[in-house]
Amino acid sequence: MIRPSRIFQRPESGSHSGPESARRPVAGPASGEGPRRLRILVTGASAGLGAAIARELAARGHGLALTARRGDRLDDLAREVRALGGEPLVVPDDLADPEAPARIVAAAVGRFGGLDVLINNAGVGLPRYYAESDPEALRLQVAVNFTAPILLTRHALPHLVESRGTVINIGSAIGAVANPILGVYGATKAGLAYWNDALRREVGHRGVRVCLVDLGPVATEFFDAVRRRAGCDRVNPLGIDPPPDRLYNAMRDRPPAAMEASPAEAARRIARLVDRPRRRISPLRRVVWPVRVVGAILGLIPPLGDLAVGAMIRRVEREEAAGGEALRSRAVDRAAR
Ligand SMILES: NC(=O)c1ccc[n+]([C@@H]2O[C@H](COP(=O)([O-])OP(=O)(O)OC[C@H]3O[C@@H](n4cnc5c(N)ncnc54)[C@H](OP(=O)(O)O)[C@@H]3O)[C@@H](O)[C@H]2O)c1
Repeated sequence: MIRPSRIFQRPESGSHSGPESARRPVAGPASGEGPRRLRILVTGASAGLGAAIARELAARGHGLALTARRGDRLDDLAREVRALGGEPLVVPDDLADPEAPARIVAAAVGRFGGLDVLINNAGVGLPRYYAESDPEALRLQVAVNFTAPILLTRHALPHLVESRGTVINIGSAIGAVANPILGVYGATKAGLAYWNDALRREVGHRGVRVCLVDLGPVATEFFDAVRRRAGCDRVNPLGIDPPPDRLYNAMRDRPPAAMEASPAEAARRIARLVDRPRRRISPLRRVVWPVRVVGAILGLIPPLGDLAVGAMIRRVEREEAAGGEALRSRAVDRAAR
C-alpha cells in the first residue's frame, strides 16, 4: 500500500522502479534510437477506442501494457503489436474489482520497471432511467468509469512522478449536460473531469501532466452495447419489432456519420498527447463545443434545462403510451386472425 507521505518520494526499492529502471528502455522497438519510447498502460484495450489507441502507440514504437476483461481480444491485439515489432504485456482483469487497479499497475511496473503514461480509457454506459435501473448496473458504471481511474492513478502516481509522466483521462461531452437516460454514466464522466482538473492542479508542479479527452460520439462497440442494453435487440414478448420500450425512441439510431469520429481518427489525436500533453482536447470539436455551450447556459439558468429535458421526457412517455397501445391492438388483431 502507498502511504500518502511517500507519494512524492521515489517508489520503494524492490518495486522495480528506482532511478535506474526509470531510464530503462522498454522491450521491443522502444529500445531503439529516435524519439523517446515510453512505457504506457492502456485500459479498455480490448475494443473500440482503447484498441485503436494501442495500435497507434504501437506503430510509434512505445512499450504497451494492455488491460481489459476479454483476454482473447487482448491476445489478438498483442499479436498485431508484435507484428509491428513490439512486446506488449497483456493483463486481463476486471476493473469493477476494487483490487484490480493495484494488480494491473504492479504488473505493468514489474514488466517495464516504471511507467511513463497511464491512459484511463475503459468505460461502460448502461442507459436506463435511474428509477428503473438495476442497482448492480449503477455500481458497475461508477466502479469502472470513476473509481477505477482514480485508483489506477493513485497506484501509478509514484512512478509517474519519478518519470515526470502523463495521465490521460477519457471523458465524454455528455458530462456537460445532464441527461436522465444516461444520468449515472454522465455523472461519472462529469466527476472524472472535475477530478482530472483537481489532480492536474495538484501534481503539475511535480512534472506530471494530466490531460482530459472530451469525447463526442466515436464509432465503436459502445453504441452497439448502448442499443442492446436499451432493449433494442430484445425479443419483444408480443413478437413485434420494435419493442414498446421508451428507451428505444431515444437510442434506436447511431448518431449520423458526420457526427461521429472514427476510432482511428480519435486515437491519432489522443496518441499525440503522450509526446505533447495538453490540458484538454476535443477530438470531435463540432459536436463537443455546442454541447459545452448548451451545458454552460443550462448551468447558469438551471430551470431552462429542467423545462427542456422535462418536456422531452413527457413527450417520449406520451409516444410510448400511444405506441404501446397501438402495438398491443395490432398484436390482438394478429392473434384474432
Ligand atoms: N464511443 C463513444 O461514442 C464515446 C463517447 C464519449 C466517451 N466515450 C468513452 O470512451 C471510452 C472508450 O469507449 P469505447 O467507445 O471504445 O467503448 P467500447 O468499444 O465499448 O470499449 C470499452 C472498453 O472498456 C472495457 N471495459 C468495460 N468494462 C470493463 C471492466 N469491468 N473491466 C475492464 N475493462 C472494461 C472493455 O473491455 P472488456 O469488455 O473486454 O472488459 C472495452 O475494452 C470510454 O471511457 C467511453 O465512456 C466513448
